[in-house]
Amino acid sequence: MGAVPQSKIENPKSKMTRILAIETSCDETAAAVIKDGRQVLSNVVATQIEIHAKYGGVFPEVASRMHVETIVPVVSEAIEKAEVTWNDLDAIAVTYGPGLPGSLLVGVNVAKGLALGRGLPLIGINHLEGHVYSHWLRVPGDGMAPDELKFPLLFLIVSGGHTELILMRDHLTYEKLGATADDASGEAFDKVARLLRLGYPGGPKIEKIAVEGNPHAFKFARPKIDGEFAFSFSGIKTAVLRAVQNYGPIGPGGSIAAKVPIKDLAASFQHGVIDQLVGKTIAAADKFGATAILLSGGVSANKLLRYVMKSKAHVPVYWPPLWLCTDNAAMIGAAAHFRYLAGHRADWNLDIDPNLKLVD
Ligand code: KG4
Ligand code: ZN
Repeated sequence: MGAVPQSKIENPKSKMTRILAIETSCDETAAAVIKDGRQVLSNVVATQIEIHAKYGGVFPEVASRMHVETIVPVVSEAIEKAEVTWNDLDAIAVTYGPGLPGSLLVGVNVAKGLALGRGLPLIGINHLEGHVYSHWLRVPGDGMAPDELKFPLLFLIVSGGHTELILMRDHLTYEKLGATADDASGEAFDKVARLLRLGYPGGPKIEKIAVEGNPHAFKFARPKIDGEFAFSFSGIKTAVLRAVQNYGPIGPGGSIAAKVPIKDLAASFQHGVIDQLVGKTIAAADKFGATAILLSGGVSANKLLRYVMKSKAHVPVYWPPLWLCTDNAAMIGAAAHFRYLAGHRADWNLDIDPNLKLVD
């Protein structure tokens, strides 16, 4: 985990764990209690989506202030709903990166204070590792991975901040096969939705309206980029902008011409993004002999992405239920269980790392 201030301690005290996890990397204030990395005893998420929708995206200062206001009640609710006492807990886990600095700081400082006050070990978790380990949680869901997964596994992490193809040959071991060269796929959904005046967050809005549009009305060429498994989404975003401008200039407040075929543009854009994600992911799974493809992150909530990936892949494709695709603390608790068993503990000087990578 890069320059992570974590020390390795052998022989963890038990194999059965109950971990309180805290996640505040972006715009969700979340806490959860996870048993053995598998069972969700509680999962509380206070979303700020409605507040940020007014700004058309996450407003960092507002996000950190909201975290400050909600973190204590969210943690208390997670403990209460899990029906555990502080004495039942083995550790406190917290996301320390990547994410918005002001948001991460709230979670990390609260986690440190609680760990110190309650005499519990602290475990720092990479947010992306959380998305990976969301697949180990045992919860109801139609696309859930089976109890036992066989390595190597291929993860496509697609969110507002990330688009990465990660190969996992063993627990806590990652190889980055490729990532986006520019915008993250979720970011592209959000920007195109803003351009088409559909609102925030863009992914669900585009997915909904695209159902009524023709995905072949506009042909967006696949990007030509270096790197066999690298992605690029800024070209398709600019192509949508050009198409909109063909119908008339964009007004000062962002207004677009009434003739703009919004549904067709949304459907064609979504088709282009999915085509790229699916093509590269399946090629990577084939090349590295992955036993399964696992989708994680907010964009994996997209039903067409799931459907196309599943129908074209040569290995099974899994995705967590919607509430585990978007940001939550349950996934942080699942990852923390494996780190706890491996003996990882954070030092008291654990600091946030807004640009933390899963693989250096
Ligand atoms: O993982 P996430 O909740 O937060 C980050 O860590 O970024 O992902 C949020 C992103 C947003 O960009 C949102 O537009 C996108 O996930 N998203 C979707 C869908 N639902 C959420 N993108 C495409 N289709 C969806 N149904
Ligand atoms: Zn995320």
